[in-house]
Amino acid sequence: MIVAAGKGERAGGGMPKQFRSIAGKPLVAHAYDRLAAHPRIDAVLVVGDEGPLRAALGERAPLGIVPGGASRRLSVRAGLDAIETLGGADVVLIHDAARPFTPAAVIDRLLTALEASPGAVPALPVADTLARHGATLGDVVDRDALVRVQTPQAFRFGDIMTSHRAWQGDDEPTDDAQMVRAAGFAVAAVAGDAMLEKITRPEDFAAAEARLGQRSF
Ligand code: CTP
Ligand code: MG
Repeated sequence: MIVAAGKGERAGGGMPKQFRSIAGKPLVAHAYDRLAAHPRIDAVLVVGDEGPLRAALGERAPLGIVPGGASRRLSVRAGLDAIETLGGADVVLIHDAARPFTPAAVIDRLLTALEASPGAVPALPVADTLARHGATLGDVVDRDALVRVQTPQAFRFGDIMTSHRAWQGDDEPTDDAQMVRAAGFAVAAVAGDAMLEKITRPEDFAAAEARLGQRSF
């Protein structure tokens, strides 16, 4: 599942970032192609506005396009409900359209980890010094205890459905693994990839374009 129902407010640019192009192809189409090309992925569902998504995806044939919700969590939930209605799945990978260049090797690692765990996420180490901001700036947080979590995130379908239904947090979660953890399921970490950095701000487009140019998958 690709979630592409956000407004892309931080990225600017006159249209939601998932519809902007790199190398002549909209981000959501890049994201779609990387997932659809993987031999172990049977179908790709896309969450977002149908008209612009059909235009961006062209001849591609998603399993479905379903409207998103007011938060990322609700957009994922809409996609999960649609998959359930379509007969369910063994495993679902939940992915951001804002991370257009998924390496096949990351999907391989996730699916391997999922054989022993209800959930698996790609994660990268933190390179910068981390400190608390505000009045306590300078109080350093141990970065060796932290990782940066990316998508796609892989889950056993029944467990992710259970986790979404059980979620009662006050804040909107920024990913699905935190809901799965809150429901009591284990989430394994596999090595992430710089190709999966999220496009969030205007300058991230140039960086993503450069990464695409440097790497053949
Ligand atoms: N997303 C979604 N539905 C929402 C919010 C976000 O499907 N209601 C998706 C986005 O389209 C994106 C992914 O979740 O692919 C990650 O979210 P983010 O990077 O925050 O994208 P936006 O919410 O679109 O950007 P912003 O927060 O800057 O407005
Ligand atoms: Mg957002």
